[in-house]
Amino acid sequence: MSQTVKDYIRTIADFPHEGIMFRDVTTLFADARGFRMAIDQMLHPYAGERIDKVVGLEARGFILGGAIAHQLSTGFVPIRKKGKLPGPVISEAYALEYGEAVMEVHDDALKPGERVLIVDDLLATGGTAEAGIKLCRRMGAEVIGCAFVIDLPDLGGNAKLQALGMPVHVLCSFE
Ligand code: PRP
Ligand code: ADE
Repeated sequence: MSQTVKDYIRTIADFPHEGIMFRDVTTLFADARGFRMAIDQMLHPYAGERIDKVVGLEARGFILGGAIAHQLSTGFVPIRKKGKLPGPVISEAYALEYGEAVMEVHDDALKPGERVLIVDDLLATGGTAEAGIKLCRRMGAEVIGCAFVIDLPDLGGNAKLQALGMPVHVLCSFE
C-alpha cells in the first residue's frame, strides 16, 4: 500500500512539555513525495476557485504557504508573531493554554475584496487561525477557507472555525 500524508508525520512524545504528543511535520516536508502530496491535497478543494493571495501562519504555515502560492501563481502574505514585521502592522491577541499571544500582519498586505486562503500545518484550539481570519477581515479581504495538514479534533479548533462559518480543510487527524 502506498503511503499517505499521515504516514510521513513523526510523533515525538513529551515535546515541548511532558504529556504532549508533538506532531512533527519536518519528516513530511523532508520527503519529496510526501511534501508534493501534501501541497496537492491542500489545494484540491479549491480547484477552479479564484484565490488572490495565500496567507501563511508562522512558522510552518510559511513553508506550506510559499509552495501553495507558487503552485497557484499568487502572492504570499505572512502572519507573524508580535514584533517580527518591519512595517506598520495590525494586531490580534489570542488565548494560549497559559496567557496570551499576539499575531501581526502588515496593514497594507491585503486589499479589500481580495479572496484569500489561510494555511498552516496544524489546527489545535483554533486560536491562531481565528486571529489570522480576523486580521484578514480587518483589511476587507474575504477568507474563502483555511487549510491544514493536521487536525487535533479533541482540542476543538475545527468546530470553532466551522461555527464561525469558515470552511476548513484538513488532510489528516490525530485523536
Ligand atoms: C502551532 C501550529 C499552529 C498553532 C496551532 O504553532 O503550527 O500555528 O500552534 O495551535 P492553535 O490552533 O491552538 O492556535 P506554534 O504556536 O507552536 O508556533 P510556531 O509554528 O512558531 O512554532
Ligand atoms: N501545536 C499544538 N499542539 C501541537 C501538537 N500536538 N503537535 C504539534 N504542534 C502542536
